Amino acid sequence: MSETIYQGLAGVNVDRTQISHIDGLKGELIYRGYDIRELANKASFEEVTYLLWNDDLPTQEQLSAFSESLKPHYKLPAEIIEVLRLMPKDTHPMHAVRTAVSMLGAVDADAEGVDLDNIHRIGLSLTAKFPSFVAAFERIRNGLEPVNPDPELNIAGNFLYMLTGEKPTEAATNVMDVALVLHAEHGSNASTFVARAVASTLTDGYSAITAACGSLKGPLHGGANAAVMGALEKIGSVDKVEDYVMNILNSPGGRVMGFGHRVYRVLDPRAIILKEVSHNLAEESGDSKWFEMSLEMERVMDREMAKKGKQVKPNVDFFSASVYRMLGFPTDMYTPIFAVARISGWMAHLYEQYADNKLMRPRMVYEGPVGRSFKALADR
Ligand code: ACO
Repeated sequence: MSETIYQGLAGVNVDRTQISHIDGLKGELIYRGYDIRELANKASFEEVTYLLWNDDLPTQEQLSAFSESLKPHYKLPAEIIEVLRLMPKDTHPMHAVRTAVSMLGAVDADAEGVDLDNIHRIGLSLTAKFPSFVAAFERIRNGLEPVNPDPELNIAGNFLYMLTGEKPTEAATNVMDVALVLHAEHGSNASTFVARAVASTLTDGYSAITAACGSLKGPLHGGANAAVMGALEKIGSVDKVEDYVMNILNSPGGRVMGFGHRVYRVLDPRAIILKEVSHNLAEESGDSKWFEMSLEMERVMDREMAKKGKQVKPNVDFFSASVYRMLGFPTDMYTPIFAVARISGWMAHLYEQYADNKLMRPRMVYEGPVGRSFKALADR
């Protein structure tokens, strides 16, 4: 009897959630009932994090209390800075991110508790510290001293401040905030699923988030934004885009980075917003090269995919590449920036997982040999 195999767990519902929902046919994403298109324009990353961790948006009083509760956690313990200094300067910054989370677990005397109060405490600490250690590693690898966080700034502003040591403009802070909101949560994506699967063993929250960081790093997931930028740099100009894309599509199994999604069959709503942000930044900065190359890539992909009758559209990583480039971030920082946002969604899922846990333990269909007789080592 043949058994059904859901390779890549495609189409499998592993649990229930109240956190977010994607309608891949309509191109809609909601966080607890609120459309991402509205949230991205109107709510800050702190507001959205509160929403993801609670039932609804905060009142002004709740938001102030929540923002204040994050601030004592901005500063990194000395051990984390030491570990970041020990890392090779040319290592991928996601190794630094994953290691920093793991080390934070090691130095937290209460790391083990999976009761919701403790997980909430860890959530506040990690959400506040992700920007701090991503920025600290970026400075250390460039031979600069880390910049202490400024408790007057929000997460988006603080991140930019700790990277450069200069107070960011309101415009740059707002763009950063929109990017964080758009990347905060996205259902049962690979890294969130990994976080929940690890948490389902009732191990500690740091272990779950360390594993999630490893998952996000992959080029088929959060690593795609850096891969898109790498491609744009390699292509170099608008007139060379078509050849580049066609070469990939003509090679067996070729994937153009930043396109396609397991759930969306129409344009990812986050890509629509980031496309507009990228367009605005290109106009403001007068540097439209990256945006124009992206548009051309989208045009060629649309044409080729339509010929093949496939629904492969730009995903969130596609236009975030040109946005981050125009904000001045080095390419290998794109995925760590994604992590600065996604810690919010990962923690929301850990609350759900620990609150109603069932060990994740799927099966596999065995297709290997059977009935072999053992031969002693000397007889093989
Ligand atoms: N370029 C070219 N063709 C593609 C692409 C792409 N980027 N994505 C999908 N396709 C085509 C495939 O060739 C496949 O065609 P086939 O059925 O004839 O073999 C069809 O569309 C379905 O593709 P799958 O890879 O089977 O779809 P899956 O759901 O497994 O993959 C994934 C989704 C991994 C995101 C894929 O689209 C991909 O590799 N994209 C590039 C990497 C990327 O941008 N990842 C970021 C995703 S968003 C995020 O994680 C934040």
